[in-house]
Amino acid sequence: MSTDSDFYRTLTLVIVGLGVFFVIIIIAANMVSSDDDVEPKVDQRVKARIDESIKPVGTVNIDASTAGAAAPATGGSFDAAAAYQNNCFACHGTGALDAPKLGDKAAWKARIAQGDAIYTNAVKGKGSMPPKGGAASLSDDQVNLIVDHMISESK
Ligand code: HEC
Repeated sequence: MSTDSDFYRTLTLVIVGLGVFFVIIIIAANMVSSDDDVEPKVDQRVKARIDESIKPVGTVNIDASTAGAAAPATGGSFDAAAAYQNNCFACHGTGALDAPKLGDKAAWKARIAQGDAIYTNAVKGKGSMPPKGGAASLSDDQVNLIVDHMISESK
């Protein structure tokens, strides 16, 4: 029977040994994986310089104070009605300085009858109206489109 108890003692030792071995493996594995979570140690000044050198070239500047003032040249998507509201309404919506009011057919009849001169007058100015109604950032084409809008609302 002594061989049997030697066998069981050895077996117990092996099992306990394996248990300890697994515990060590698990602890070691945890240490390795938690190492992954640690931020690589990079000097903050180096990091700042890298960030600076890889940042995008341009930044989009969305400034509400410049939106709507004078509608910028935007290719085909020029909104004449909005541009009228922003640049011309002050006089043509109110009749200020005796400006012909939008929709006042009598006030526009003779002006429309001049033909192309009405566009030139809008671009160059006329009487108390400054060139382009003071909205110098509008292109001639844009002013013409606004005049079209004003004419179609006033005849
Ligand atoms: C500061 C006031 C003012 C603003 C702003 C203004 N206008 Fe005028 N506009 C006038 C006055 C005043 C007249 C009448 C001028 C006259 O007949 O002596 C006029 C006349 C016109 C006429 C008729 C021109 C003609 O041949 O009789 C057109 C077209 C016109 N404006 C377009 C515009 C457009 C387009 C804008 C905006 C981009 C604009 N105006 C902004 C004051 C203004």
